Amino acid sequence: MELREAIGRRRSMRYLLPHKPVEREKIQRMLEAARLASFWGNVQALKAVVIERATAPQDVLDAIPPGSALAGFQLRLAPVLIVWWLDWSLIDVQGDRLHELVEAGAVGIDKENSHRYLDETLIPFFRASGEGMRQGGMTEMDCGQGIAQATLVAFEQGLGTCLIGQPAQKKLKRVLGLPTDSKILVIQTVGYPAESLEAGGQRPRLPFEEKFFLNRMGQPFPRDPAVVEGLKRDKMLQDPAPASWRRAELDYLSRALGIPPIFGEEMPELAERIMKEFSEPEPT
Ligand SMILES: Cc1cc2nc3c(=O)[nH]c(=O)nc-3n(C[C@H](O)[C@H](O)[C@H](O)COP(=O)(O)O)c2cc1C
Repeated sequence: MELREAIGRRRSMRYLLPHKPVEREKIQRMLEAARLASFWGNVQALKAVVIERATAPQDVLDAIPPGSALAGFQLRLAPVLIVWWLDWSLIDVQGDRLHELVEAGAVGIDKENSHRYLDETLIPFFRASGEGMRQGGMTEMDCGQGIAQATLVAFEQGLGTCLIGQPAQKKLKRVLGLPTDSKILVIQTVGYPAESLEAGGQRPRLPFEEKFFLNRMGQPFPRDPAVVEGLKRDKMLQDPAPASWRRAELDYLSRALGIPPIFGEEMPELAERIMKEFSEPEPT
């Protein structure tokens, strides 16, 4: 599948086949794609633990959160869950990464002076502003780029995925052995889609003209209809959701996968469990 088509086909697939395992090689390709993403200072703080439901030990399965703000069934059904987490400790050794970039010929023209500049100026500057760098959101943004690359590779391989935000994460961190000051960014459910791409359709997006501007806010970036037509031919721009038969598909999925038909029906119990864990003290 071409990249443009993978971008168009990518959407949050919440309905996955629970019984169909995902080949490890496909997961590996997703992880390889995430590893190649750009990071400020080449920090590479994105890490992941892959939970394979068929092989994971019982204590790990028991630590999978009961659900998310939207629904519980996704975490329950997915044959594979990728727990994407941010390793803050890598910021402390960012200087090493910068020196590697100089050695690789990626930054700096004069190698010797570039190394000296890093040691005398840039690395001390980054060290002094370490806390600010954490707060600024740039590291999380870079992690997002890695996850996005993995997601495109998943779709390119015929898989479906959905990102699930995790407000309560202490138990999972403890059982997976993540450092206490780490941050679980999202859990990505991965599996073969139980729903069709067409019925899922392109989810609503704000108009292009309201989002992108030329030279100054208020002047929309011109959207050339010929480019739009080309992207439709490339299958990057697809028919908007829902297809006429989406309701029937959702009824079928609800019955086949045992999903409560009312959105958020599982919520009161889920919210209680999430809030309970949220207010627990962080283990030392
Ligand atoms: C960081 C992040 C967290 C998300 N958390 C959830 C979630 O907890 N549950 C869920 O069903 N979808 C979740 N989503 C999916 C979004 O709701 C989804 O992007 C939106 O429905 C429309 O985009 P789509 O084209 O991917 O379907 C999350 C997406 C992102 C990027």
